[in-house]
Amino acid sequence: MKEIIWKPELYSFDTCQEFVNEFQLCKTDLVLTNEYIYQPYFGSMNLDCMVRYQEAYGMGEPTDIMTEAIMHDVAKTDCRRIIAIGGGTVIDIAKVLAVAGDESIDALYDMAPNLPKRRELIILPTTCGTGSEVTNISILNRTRLGTKMGLVGPAMYADTAVLIPQLLEKLPFGVFATSSIDALVHAVESSLSPKATSYTKLFGYKAIEMIIRGYQAIVREGRKARIPLLKDFLTASNYAGFAFGTAGCAAVHAMSYPLGGKYHVPHGESNYAMFTGVLKNYMEIRQDGEIAVLNDYLADLLGCSAEEAYDRMEDLLNQILPKKPLHEYGVTEADLTEFTKSVMEAQGRLMGNNFVPLDEARVLKIYKELY
Ligand SMILES: [Fe+2]
Repeated sequence: MKEIIWKPELYSFDTCQEFVNEFQLCKTDLVLTNEYIYQPYFGSMNLDCMVRYQEAYGMGEPTDIMTEAIMHDVAKTDCRRIIAIGGGTVIDIAKVLAVAGDESIDALYDMAPNLPKRRELIILPTTCGTGSEVTNISILNRTRLGTKMGLVGPAMYADTAVLIPQLLEKLPFGVFATSSIDALVHAVESSLSPKATSYTKLFGYKAIEMIIRGYQAIVREGRKARIPLLKDFLTASNYAGFAFGTAGCAAVHAMSYPLGGKYHVPHGESNYAMFTGVLKNYMEIRQDGEIAVLNDYLADLLGCSAEEAYDRMEDLLNQILPKKPLHEYGVTEADLTEFTKSVMEAQGRLMGNNFVPLDEARVLKIYKELY
């Protein structure tokens, strides 16, 4: 059994200046980032490296077209080290740049997972959610095929991940909320996964504790209470990244993809829409095993009985990000059948990690309950 994948070397710094001093950025380094992130933290340092702003190549989620444009631009340089400073989109594209030459994205998908390592990769996450700095997958929208697909390969792991809480200080509360809920879902889904091990659960359960305790402080003291806790949230997100990097995510993610894809709901928010609905249905099928451990753990953190744990957790999360029924996102009843079909057909990789198997009728039931 694979206990844990422990890939990038991990660093943390209090400030961006400390990172720059340690890593000695030079002419053959290329920073992929967003202008609104780079300018306030690095702009005045006048670094001797190449800088590319992702938004100059297209807006929104990473597509094959956007990524190819950046690949071809980077292929013309003598770049040896890619430094990603950003959220999920920047990180996903940077992982491709670590393995890309001047071929097409489609050619890379054909070669995967045997992709060559072409450049060193350093990742600095600027949200506290994806955990993507320690995983080897990029999710790209393959516009020519009309679907989102993961590009995966051992060469796509970063060489180094760097956690700098200062980079999260300007994160709007809404992005903080959706990204940290995503991290909480990573921690819970990976801990319930049949692929979970004592190592992944060590990180998963600790991440759950840090995120719940942080939310309790925010509810008690107000939104500003998150600022001194940003290091905790960034660390918790990274712990959850290590946990799901080995043990995987499951039905919450699988069922959230059709909602995110069709109605452009942010990833963390669409996960949250499914979260407790999926957990309650697991419980209807099986009440013992890891889910009993999880419920006792949550009950302890929330100061309630195990039976009340999901409702109390939802009460807490609702004060961070109000949960909406699916119809409020524009979802129709006809969508529910279509979403179910798409989950059963296209999300087998994730559905294989469910705590108990969920069949088509059960997936539709969950969607209807959340509608
Ligand atoms: Fe996620």
